[in-house]
This record gives sequence, structure tokens and C-alpha cells, in this order.
Amino acid sequence: MDILDRLTNRAALEAKLAGQPEAVFIDAEQLAITLKSKVIGQDGVCDDMAAQIRRRLALKQRGKPVGVFLLAGPPGTGKTYLAKCLSNALQRKLLHFDMTQFSSGGHAATQLFGSAKGYVGSDVYGKLTAGLRDAPDAVVLLDEIEKAHPDVHKNFLTAWNDGFVTEASDGKQISTTQAIFILTTNAATEALQSFSDLHANDPDELRRTSANALRESGFAPEIINRIDRIFVFKPLSGLDVARVTALEIEAMIKGYGLDVSLGGIDPELLFDMMRRQGRLGTAASARDLVRIAEESIADTLIEAKQKGFTRVALVAEGGRVVARAES
Ligand SMILES: Nc1ncnc2c1ncn2[C@@H]1O[C@H](COP(=O)(O)OP(=O)(O)OP(=O)(O)O)[C@@H](O)[C@H]1O
Ligand SMILES: [Mg+2]
Repeated sequence: MDILDRLTNRAALEAKLAGQPEAVFIDAEQLAITLKSKVIGQDGVCDDMAAQIRRRLALKQRGKPVGVFLLAGPPGTGKTYLAKCLSNALQRKLLHFDMTQFSSGGHAATQLFGSAKGYVGSDVYGKLTAGLRDAPDAVVLLDEIEKAHPDVHKNFLTAWNDGFVTEASDGKQISTTQAIFILTTNAATEALQSFSDLHANDPDELRRTSANALRESGFAPEIINRIDRIFVFKPLSGLDVARVTALEIEAMIKGYGLDVSLGGIDPELLFDMMRRQGRLGTAASARDLVRIAEESIADTLIEAKQKGFTRVALVAEGGRVVARAES
């Protein structure tokens, strides 16, 4: 008789092992290239993220999520966008939650983790528990994590420390060991930026000072303690502003079912947008660029589409932008 049959329940043990995540090996270099081609001006973050994901996916026995990562930095620098690009690149589902919507007590946690039997809503699963039940390896994006109610934080701590969340309606445990948690914040932006420059070669000191800065800006210490890694995003500057703008314009053109010709965006146009963004000051983000771009080119793109153009070039002409047909 097998030792395990004699001394324990071997079938149960084997079933448990089968539920453990498998070691997965990914090409970190390729992942970094993919991320950097989309997320502009954040090469350090993209390289580091790819390396972290590779190392953590290669761990076979974890009992915890693949990672709990904090993306910190100014608004509109690509934090949420990176999470989306990562989920695409890894072909994992994205479960996206805006934590400002879960800032009040009581009801907030039930929306994510379900309601106990006998309460309103106990016939449906919570949004997070249902999401992870259907896609256990999802990328879970928690925007502005510090805004969530302490009850919500408490549930997440279980998810990160114990490797499961409990659905309140039926008490089922749903594994989080294959999931990647990405938290974002605008808190302590300047302090984090200066520490990441100052202690670039001293990870322990960087970690300590960053944790202090987050604590001072109101982050719950137990959340900080559980974060595997902090990624600091830089403000967009110089040609990177033009790169993001050009990508936004391309996306807008495609959004109208059109193509842009090679070299088809007048540099004058990008120059003008960079100047306008500059005037908005350092707080201006990529979101302002998107808005400015939309205002100045939407009409001409609609006209181009109506005229039956398929490929266009955008040209600055007498103070306005015109979409010209290109072959
Ligand atoms: N570094 C970047 N590279 C490419 N596109 C970017 C970048 N930063 C921002 N964008 C564009 O601007 C949009 C808004 O950026 P995003 O939502 O990622 O900002 P954020 O850093 O999450 O800001 P917030 O802190 O306000 O949530 C993105 O969807 C993307 O199209
Ligand atoms: Mg965001």
C-alpha cells in the first residue's frame, strides 16, 4: 500500500496539487518589447514589469497571486494603459475596477465579494469573485486603490496573503494564485519620483523610503506591506509627448474606419499640440492631448469618411486641419 494511501488521503492530496499553478516560462524580452512599443516613455517600468512577471510565473508553488504590483505616478502617464497592454500581451482577461466607487462602508464590499445569504443580492456573485471564478488567471486592475473602504482592503488582503477570496453568498473559496493584481495610485507622486532617482541602485532603501512616502500620504500600512513591487511612472516630456499624440491621432483615424498614410501626420500639427499641452502646464496629461486632438480633427475625419476616402494624410492648412485623400 502506498504510504500516502495508508497515512493520508492521497486522492485529496493529488487533487490539491493539481489545483496548484503550473510553472510557466515566458520570454521577458519579447514581453518588454511589446509593452514598450505601446507604452511610451516608460521603458524602465516596462523592462522591470516583464522581468518580474517572468520570474513570478516560473515559480511553481506559490499559494499567492503571481504578483501584487503598485503603479504610481502622475495622471495620464500610462498606468491604466500599461495594465491593459499587459493583459493583452499575456492574453489574460482584464478585470478592471475603479476603487473610488468602493469608498463607502457596507455595500462596497458586497458588490465585489457578494452578499451573505438572506441579504439582497445574495443570488448573484460579487463582481470580483465572479470574474475570478470565470477567469482565474485574470489581470485584476484596481485603480486608485487607496480610495477603497477599509472593509474592501481587508478582503483584498486575504486575496493576496492566503491565495483565495471567499464569495459571501455561498462561502466558496475562489483561488487568486494565478491572478496578477495591479494597483494604481496618484499618491505621493513627487516623493516617489525623487526616491526612485535617488536610490535607483539601492532597492532596500528605495523600498523603505517609498513605503514611508505612501504611508504619509494616507496609504494603509497593511496594503503597503503586501505590495510586491512599486513601479514609478515618469511625467511625459519632449518627443514622447509627440509620440503619444501621434499614436492617439492614429487610433482616432482608425476609429473612423480610415488609414493614415506613411508620414501622413503633419509635424506642424504635433508641434501645435505640444505647444498647447505645454501651455496647460506640467499637470497636463495625455488625456488633455486626446481631448485637444479630438477637437481639432474629428470633423475633417468624418468628412473624409463621407467622401469615401480610405487612406488619409492630415495637413495643417490656414489654422485648421484637413484630411487629404492618399492612395
Ligand atoms: N506612456 C503612454 N504611452 C502611450 N499612451 C499613453 C501613455 N500615457 C497615456 N497614454 C494615453 O492616454 C490615455 C490615458 O492614460 P492612462 O489612463 O493610462 O493614464 P493613468 O496613468 O492611468 O492616469 P490616472 O492616474 O489619471 O488614472 C491612455 O489610454 C493612452 O491612450
Ligand atoms: Mg488610470
